[in-house]
Amino acid sequence: MSGATENLPTLDLRDAAFRQDPYPALARVRAENPVHQDALGIWYVTRHADVTAALKHPRLGRDLRQWMGYAMLRPYLADSPLERCVEQWMFSLDGAEHARLRKLVARAFTPRAVAAMRASIEQAADELIAEIEAARPSELDIVSSFATPLPVRVIARVLGLPLETYDDLKEWSTTLALALEPTSRRRHREAASAAAEALMTRLRETVASRRESRADDVVSLLLAAEDGDALTEDELVSQLVLLFVAGHETTTSLIGSGMLALARHPDEQRRLRDDPSLGPSAIEEMLRYESPANTVARVVYEEVSIGGQRIGEGQMMLCMTGGANRDPDVFVDPERFDVGRSPNPHVSFGGGVHFCLGAPLARLEAQVCFERLLRAFRGFDVAPGGVEWRDYVNLRSLDSLVLRPEW
Ligand code: HEM
Repeated sequence: MSGATENLPTLDLRDAAFRQDPYPALARVRAENPVHQDALGIWYVTRHADVTAALKHPRLGRDLRQWMGYAMLRPYLADSPLERCVEQWMFSLDGAEHARLRKLVARAFTPRAVAAMRASIEQAADELIAEIEAARPSELDIVSSFATPLPVRVIARVLGLPLETYDDLKEWSTTLALALEPTSRRRHREAASAAAEALMTRLRETVASRRESRADDVVSLLLAAEDGDALTEDELVSQLVLLFVAGHETTTSLIGSGMLALARHPDEQRRLRDDPSLGPSAIEEMLRYESPANTVARVVYEEVSIGGQRIGEGQMMLCMTGGANRDPDVFVDPERFDVGRSPNPHVSFGGGVHFCLGAPLARLEAQVCFERLLRAFRGFDVAPGGVEWRDYVNLRSLDSLVLRPEW
């Protein structure tokens, strides 16, 4: 196996300890074997300099069909609705095809369009906080009561999806997200394919009703774009599925992990509460400290050299954001959670032409949420045994976080 010399540490995504806490293993490989291959031939890149170079490298891209393992390790069921949908995502395309879709969808996420989403975010946050305040519980799972419903409500409102179907939407999206995990199994893929079909049916209904009468939402904006360029119905529905899934699983993770970091670092919690101008840097630090997307994939289109390793055409590379974000060559005292950290060149939104299109929306959501959560509670810590991580590798997220709020 090239890149893996005997006795050097390697990453094992299936290791339960890694899934619970990836940082010790990431620190070890970053120091001793920063770019290496596993038994399946997947390459891992863990240093900040190598990850940032890989993310924007013109010979690397996101089209999984170019990966030599695709036929064998095909991540979705062949010719399934899910596969047909994912293959049309801008996220899965490169070059002119990617640029065309990104340009069309980006019109719905300009700084002005995102600023106009603030009212929807505030409304969704205020509704959830009011429910929590009405109950004034002594212990509270902030994941189920706030971090999970908030981003789904926001993205559903932004896309113009009917909210009465919220539970269905959430379940389909979670099932889909699981199939995107590098360690997903056949049964996940079957469930995800059914979920993709159901979600697409719902989105087609929304598109049809917006064709009849436009509203103030992203679907209407994309239909207006369609008048000029030609987004086929399938392309449009696929991008909506992407926005729906990408638009909230990661944001749920950011809110949950951010609350955990604040609960575990009472001095930093107090510092942020006393000085709200630290809000933006605190959110960047939460993104750095617990990257919601722990792996960002790239396929090698033409041989490249990354971190001194030659990596051939057709190989799959996982850029480990959690490794890059705690690289001591770039971040002073990287294990420390510091709400005032500056500069903070984390890679949690990926990089290059695929840099997260929804980053401004995610940042705005986080800003509104943390402002309100810090105002709602005088303080909070973690209840004993209150932290449960999901058994995921890519989407690193809390299953539950039980807090003890001070009212
Ligand atoms: C904390 C929240 C979020 C995180 C951590 C996150 C992270 C990411 C990452 C790592 C990528 C891949 C970038 C790459 O390959 O280099 C990505 C892409 C993307 N994200 Fe996000 N994301 C978040 C929120 C959102 C939201 C709210 C939306 C939607 C409104 C969104 C829409 C997208 C889209 C459309 C892409 C594909 C862009 C492309 O391929 O050109 N994301 N995101």
